[in-house]
Amino acid sequence: MDTQTTRSVPNAPHPAIRMDLDAPDIPHIAPESLPQHVAIVMDGNGRWANQQGLHRTQGHEAGERALMETVAGAVELGIPELSLYAFSTENWRRSPAEVRFLMGFSRQTIHDDSATLNAWGVRVRWVGRAQKLWRSVLGELRAAEQLTQHNQRMTLNLCVNYGGRAEIVDAMRAIASQVQSGRLNPSRISEATVARYLYAPHMHDVDLMIRTSGERRTSNFLMWESAYAELAFSDVMWPDFTRQDLWGLCTEYIHRHRRFGGAQDAPRV
Ligand code: FPP
Repeated sequence: MDTQTTRSVPNAPHPAIRMDLDAPDIPHIAPESLPQHVAIVMDGNGRWANQQGLHRTQGHEAGERALMETVAGAVELGIPELSLYAFSTENWRRSPAEVRFLMGFSRQTIHDDSATLNAWGVRVRWVGRAQKLWRSVLGELRAAEQLTQHNQRMTLNLCVNYGGRAEIVDAMRAIASQVQSGRLNPSRISEATVARYLYAPHMHDVDLMIRTSGERRTSNFLMWESAYAELAFSDVMWPDFTRQDLWGLCTEYIHRHRRFGGAQDAPRV
């Protein structure tokens, strides 16, 4: 199948989720005005489940559907890069049962959804630390990366066993060993040098960071890359998040005035 020309493709595990580039309700936003990189802290699975008398793990299952729904919406809108915080380096502190569930569920989800993501023209990239991550999960992530490596419609960064501080620490270790071996002169270390040693050196800076569930913090997600990100908080619990919610936040984003530390003197007359 020619993945780059596929315009309307259902998702096999969720036949109701379609990616349709010709859907009439997609907002028309000029490509250059769109956030080039959207990062999402998918929060609220556990609370959503408990509120309905369900177990937290059922919230994660519902969250996977929202994940595919959001990816479809991002592709439809024309967002070039989307990062999703699926498991943080701090999530190991959860109960062993929940950690086991999340690892097994991530493995299954990546396995089940890869073909759909591929048909949608999405390139999957794993971003995170290998240490501690289940080998079988890493195996599925690598397989998804390989399957989708030539896709160009959107890059999906699956952040699994990811932490912003861990990423900076790992970059510092790599830089320090370059210095130690004489290959790098400390006085030549710049922001560009540090960026080169991050997990995904070609990642675009985050333009818009979204967090669901009413919490208002970024929780160690893409710290370096989101230094100038616009922040958007939604009260919707992640399992209820829809592509329309994403489109709404992106539409709001285009009205933000970004200065990146610069300033313009324009006294009102
Ligand atoms: C946050 O809700 C959600 C997570 C920590 C896990 C999200 C994972 C998925 C949706 C599946 C991931 C699959 C892939 C593709 C790797 P929470 O548990 O923190 O909710 P709470 O704040 O209400 O407790």
